[in-house]
Amino acid sequence: MPDIVRIVEVGPRDGLQNERVAVSAVVKVDFIKRLAAAGIKTIEAGSFVSPKRIPQMADTAQVLAALPRGGGIRYPVLVPNLQGMEAALGAGVDEIAIFASASETFSRKNINCSIAESVERFRPVVEVARANAVAVRGYVSCVLGCPYEGHVETEAVVSVSKKLAELGCYEISLGDTIGIGTPRQARDVVRAVSREIGVNALAVHFHDTRGQALANILACIEEGVCVVDSAAAGLGGCPYAPGASGNVSTEDLVFMLDGIGVRTGVDLELAIEAGLFIAAELGRPTGSKVSQAVVASRGFKPAM
Ligand code: HMG
Ligand code: MG
Repeated sequence: MPDIVRIVEVGPRDGLQNERVAVSAVVKVDFIKRLAAAGIKTIEAGSFVSPKRIPQMADTAQVLAALPRGGGIRYPVLVPNLQGMEAALGAGVDEIAIFASASETFSRKNINCSIAESVERFRPVVEVARANAVAVRGYVSCVLGCPYEGHVETEAVVSVSKKLAELGCYEISLGDTIGIGTPRQARDVVRAVSREIGVNALAVHFHDTRGQALANILACIEEGVCVVDSAAAGLGGCPYAPGASGNVSTEDLVFMLDGIGVRTGVDLELAIEAGLFIAAELGRPTGSKVSQAVVASRGFKPAM
């Protein structure tokens, strides 16, 4: 079990990409600043993908332009191809994430190419990133199941993870895109990928569709994983992963890690406020149970 876990906040990207109501760039910037004030050091700020596919992310350059740089905070963005990379460089990014899948069908639906083609498409992206001193993170989706194919072989997860690591990703985030895995399966996949690329190069990314995310995260950090993705207010989902709900909420993750003595550097109260802010902007209740409990207790007056 690590003493410290680094949280990668994906709410402004994974969260807002899946909302029917597109929030303005001003609101996104306010949300991101609140997350930064809560002590989160890595905040995914958006993506440079086709605006026809994901219109909610079309203003990512505007969002980045309004964010103060420095202060040890990184704002990675998703990049699917060279076109996205050029746009990301134009916006002055210092980190990108490329995203592949362990499922052929999900790869085709999400980025319109096979897994092998996606790796070849990412190769020049990583070269350009490297030439511009831009760090590259990698995602592997559908590591515990696919919305189209169902079962996904661990071997497929290991194979694509190795390829992304060989391309030059400093970290690979293993995504349970549809929130279908349970702890033993999550642990086994982490072990299998760790054997090839080392546990220190791994992060985990759990959607909470079936309420298994925290249990899965605990199983993975017990294997030595020390980077965990989460989203304030439990936002999240992928338009190409039908039936998937939000990511594990940052607030619930911080509460659990605080409780078991794993440091995150994140202030729970401020994370709750950031989550409540974006939930209010979206006009819906927060998905964080901890936040719901805190709000309920605020309104609770003990009997005299
Ligand atoms: P394509 O459909 O194969 O088409 O796109 P294309 O490359 O021929 O381009 C079609 C049009 O898109 C053209 O415009 C391009 O200019 C434009 P048109 O000529 O029709 O006007 N285009 C772009 N525009 C802006 N930025 C770009 C770009 N590229 C092309 N970078 C592509 C392939 C990958 C671009 C497309 O399929 C796409 O954008 N997919 C994005 C899917 C996505 O963002 N999914 C959500 C993120 S992944 C996720 O959520 C999972 C994760 O959270 C982990 C987990 O949970 O497992 C990371
Ligand atoms: Mg996701």
